[in-house]
Amino acid sequence: MRHWFQFPIIEGKASRQAHCDLPDGTYERECGKEGFFGPASHMYHKHPPTGWINWEGPLRPRAIDTTRLEQPGVTPWDASLLLYNDNLKLRVWNSLQNMDHLVRNGDGDEVLFVHQGSGHLYCDYGHLTFRDGDYIVIPRATSWRIEVDNPVSLLLIEASNSGYQMAERGLVGQHAIFDPAILEYARIDELFLAQQSSDQHWHVLLKARNHMNTITYPYNPLDAQGWKGDLTVFKLNWRDIRPLMSHRYHLPPSAHSTFVANGFVICTFVPRPIESDPNALKVPFYHNNDDYDEVLFYHRGNFFSRDNIEAGMITHHPCGFSHGPHPKALATSQQNPKKETDEVAVMIDARFPLEIAELPNGVENKDYVYSWRHEKC
Ligand SMILES: [Fe+2]
Repeated sequence: MRHWFQFPIIEGKASRQAHCDLPDGTYERECGKEGFFGPASHMYHKHPPTGWINWEGPLRPRAIDTTRLEQPGVTPWDASLLLYNDNLKLRVWNSLQNMDHLVRNGDGDEVLFVHQGSGHLYCDYGHLTFRDGDYIVIPRATSWRIEVDNPVSLLLIEASNSGYQMAERGLVGQHAIFDPAILEYARIDELFLAQQSSDQHWHVLLKARNHMNTITYPYNPLDAQGWKGDLTVFKLNWRDIRPLMSHRYHLPPSAHSTFVANGFVICTFVPRPIESDPNALKVPFYHNNDDYDEVLFYHRGNFFSRDNIEAGMITHHPCGFSHGPHPKALATSQQNPKKETDEVAVMIDARFPLEIAELPNGVENKDYVYSWRHEKC
């Protein structure tokens, strides 16, 4: 057995309640281990912790505009790899057309987050419709393809060598945040059975150990007549997530955890009321999150703690530097706080450092590291 050292200490001018009642004229910064669950201290600074005027070296925050990535490919394996480590691979894939082949990821479970578009997914387990805002969870080595009703833009999140599990619900019980009964799974329905009649040769593009294999069948291998069990393809839409919130305390991102896999967690930020207590912080607190790399994919709405971020962008905040609200967003929260947020964003918190792939020119906002510049500093 081992335990963290425990001794809440108050030194100098400090609040006794994190994220509330900040000493006048101070900026609170949380230094914390284990992604909001480990030991943490709150510092009360005279200046914003993001007030640097110069940054040299490679550990810098990054911003990627996925809407500037190259044009769609015909298979999900054309997807642009953006961020990766041994636990996860993050890709974006755009498609205008139906897939004429199947794909299978032998390297891990996959979540498809539907940023744009709608259509049908056919897989070993049956047929599932999808629309924008859906998470589709696909177990490792499942064969699947999509038919497109409206052009799709998908965020693909591979849990390499692991699988997706439901986040711990702790004190609030099994029906909070979303009721598991809301999950929809692939069905053996008429459309699924009808697509089995195709007698063409079908190719399955199997990605395994990061190499491609093409397996050809003289019939459609999505030919299940039925199945039983508790492993399947299913979907969850952000509109069915009922977020935890407190009117008196800004909850950390971990309160919005949706999926957990080895070495990372996926959180979903959905519309909610903003804290109403006059002395509670109304934007995310400055913090280091010292053990985790943080990735945010901005899906829709007005990103209330960010300046100059649009839908379809990704930010990467590697662990080891302080970040928090952008200056205009902070000023708005103090002077004229909004009553609610309408943003929808997918957050990936990775326990081990992420690498960023080589990106085509114009996709990265190279000035993002200076986006916290404060006029007063
Ligand atoms: Fe963060």
